[in-house]
Amino acid sequence: MASVEISALRKLYGDVVALSDINISIPSGSFYTLLGPSGCGKTTLLRTIAGFHRQNSGTIGVEGAPIEDLPAYRRDVGMVFQDYAIFPHLSVRDNVSFGLKQRKVPAGEIARRVGEVLEVVQLGAFADRMPHELSGGQQQRVGLARAIVIEPKVLLMDEPLSNLDAKLRVDLRAELRRIQRELGITTIYVTHDQEEALAMSDIVCVMYKGVIQQASTPLEIYMEPTNRFVAAFVGANNFLAVSRDGTAASLAAGGADVSQALASLAAGIEVVCAIRPETLHVSTGHTAAEPQDIAVPARLREVSFIGREMEVFGTTKAGDEVKAVARPDPQVVALAPGSAITFRAARKDLLFFESGETGGRVA
Ligand SMILES: Nc1ncnc2c1ncn2[C@@H]1O[C@H](COP(=O)(O)OP(=O)(O)OP(=O)(O)O)[C@@H](O)[C@H]1O
Ligand SMILES: [Mg+2]
Repeated sequence: MASVEISALRKLYGDVVALSDINISIPSGSFYTLLGPSGCGKTTLLRTIAGFHRQNSGTIGVEGAPIEDLPAYRRDVGMVFQDYAIFPHLSVRDNVSFGLKQRKVPAGEIARRVGEVLEVVQLGAFADRMPHELSGGQQQRVGLARAIVIEPKVLLMDEPLSNLDAKLRVDLRAELRRIQRELGITTIYVTHDQEEALAMSDIVCVMYKGVIQQASTPLEIYMEPTNRFVAAFVGANNFLAVSRDGTAASLAAGGADVSQALASLAAGIEVVCAIRPETLHVSTGHTAAEPQDIAVPARLREVSFIGREMEVFGTTKAGDEVKAVARPDPQVVALAPGSAITFRAARKDLLFFESGETGGRVA
């Protein structure tokens, strides 16, 4: 078990800034996930921690000791890759033994440790198989066994499940988390799959364009996003235009005065209102709001009934595209496109962000 501290880390490829001033603190034994869209710098950060890339500046500490100048093989980190990266010509047992042989561990101890680790990843019965005789999920568990058998202080995993089919991904997700808890190993996990990140992590760190946007618990990332990027990237969100005029503010679509929520915000700052689809209620026709609600009139674009719920897509008169996910209402499901509908939400469920891709939360 080991804590990881990263300070002011910066990495450029030529003049491409892949990582810009990364500061991260990872508690010992936790499962820490880097989440973000393609190209945001996740792999670069992981490989810089592993020592495969050299940072331009900044420090990386494990258990308080700086490692940023050590060669990769002396960093005491294990790494699991997306494409398994196991040796095709070696059996499962020999693949897992490899790192221990390199470290000149005595044969008896190798046999014992490899046996134990294969039990942990539930491949005990497969020790003599060759990689081509294994499924993708089993191959990835060999990759994991290889990384953990050397008992690294920190385990790094770069999209280890992304080459697997959906069902296996979900099974192996739970499996990985069980193993990580069992070993208590500090883990840094990379994914661009938000559901995977929310389901597995103690802390989710959302990255965009080489910059950390927010690092918090899964629930906090979802319920209290600190900026518009996080609100849009994690879970779905509707963004509605807001008209401000001095101290007065209302949704451009009509149906809601939001002056009070924005009362302390300086005039002139442009904002948008975010509403989660699952917090919206849909009714037919145009109806007025209760004081604790907003009621946004719209035209129905499409409604799809998908069993447990219905998805309702509408357009407001301000041109906002709005999606609601709600319990099926036969009256709404029966509506023709173009019909008048009203989206309602409780005021407490509205969040406000400054305009712009990464605009900060203002209310
Ligand atoms: N060897 C390299 N030389 C030049 N630019 C690179 C190199 N590796 C990565 N980059 C650039 O650095 C940025 C970050 O890349 P990185 O591979 O870290 O992203 P990522 O978040 O892992 O993306 P993905 O989800 O697609 O794997 C991208 O703009 C990428 O094009
Ligand atoms: Mg990557």
